[in-house]
Amino acid sequence: MTKCIIINGDSRKELAQFNNSIDLIVTSPPYADARKKHYDSIHPKDFADWFLTFHESFRDALKPTGSLVINIKDKVVDRVRHRFVWKTIEKLSEQGWHCIDDYIWYKTNPMPGYWPTRLRDGWEYCFHLAKTKKPYINQDAVRVPMGDWAESRLKNLSHNDKKRNNSANESGFGRDLSRWVGKKNVLPSNVLSIALVGKNKGHPAVFPVELPAFFIKLLSPPNGFIADPFGGSGSTGIAALSLNRSCVLIDTHKKYCQLAFERIIKEARLHDAEILFENVAVIEPGKRKKRQLEDTPSLLDFVSA
Ligand SMILES: C[S@@+](CC[C@H](N)C(=O)[O-])C[C@H]1O[C@@H](n2cnc3c(N)ncnc32)[C@H](O)[C@@H]1O
Repeated sequence: MTKCIIINGDSRKELAQFNNSIDLIVTSPPYADARKKHYDSIHPKDFADWFLTFHESFRDALKPTGSLVINIKDKVVDRVRHRFVWKTIEKLSEQGWHCIDDYIWYKTNPMPGYWPTRLRDGWEYCFHLAKTKKPYINQDAVRVPMGDWAESRLKNLSHNDKKRNNSANESGFGRDLSRWVGKKNVLPSNVLSIALVGKNKGHPAVFPVELPAFFIKLLSPPNGFIADPFGGSGSTGIAALSLNRSCVLIDTHKKYCQLAFERIIKEARLHDAEILFENVAVIEPGKRKKRQLEDTPSLLDFVSA
């Protein structure tokens, strides 16, 4: 049975009860300084150290084969792109995280505007980190149709195309193209083309549901358990439940937990609609004891029941 838990609290503390049970953490942390009006923010120069205060709870919550995907973008400070994101990833790798790949979220509809020394900002990073060099991955779940390229390129293969051959420009990369004849699907690239969320969802930094959905399909098993430790308006929860995965969303702001709850009820494609009302719970730290005594011995039992 798919379940969703929404916790109003600090993820550094709250994740402790999910030790070694999460398949995938997919999240976007508060951007440095950018959202001062809405929630606590961190100065770019302090960001890497601040993010490091979360890494142990993330690491301990993940299963050994689990993955951490961080959607983030450097901020421009005084006309110059600040490198706090690179520093953060460097520090995480010094702590033992493996940087498996860097994905780019290409925004198909970036915000219009004018900036004197740069252009419209049309992309963000999604860093894939893991506890081991061989995390769980299901590439078949995200394959895409081969497309027109196959029609033209594979129609008349030359002699060189039929054996593993160095590329014509001597780049050192070679491919035996005959292996692709008759294949219908290929791996997508690590550039994800996804539109920004157009509608106001009641939170200042909502990412599109398609973003966590892609990583959930790729990096978690069917019926897996997903966490978003900066849960916001619940986009990751909508993606997880719609893909038949259980999830835990944590946010320090109660109003965002409430918003996530409402969005999930409205937007998640539920495989069994009745399940949602029984198992989506907004849990406030003060009320938790009562709920646990009445309902379940621990939240982890709640998920694995
Ligand atoms: C960039 S937003 C996430 C938005 C989310 N991806 C969505 O689509 O709505 C970051 C969120 O992290 C929350 N947050 C900040 N510090 C936190 C902490 N220590 N523990 C849990 N949540 C935190 C903020 O309240 C904010 O809602």
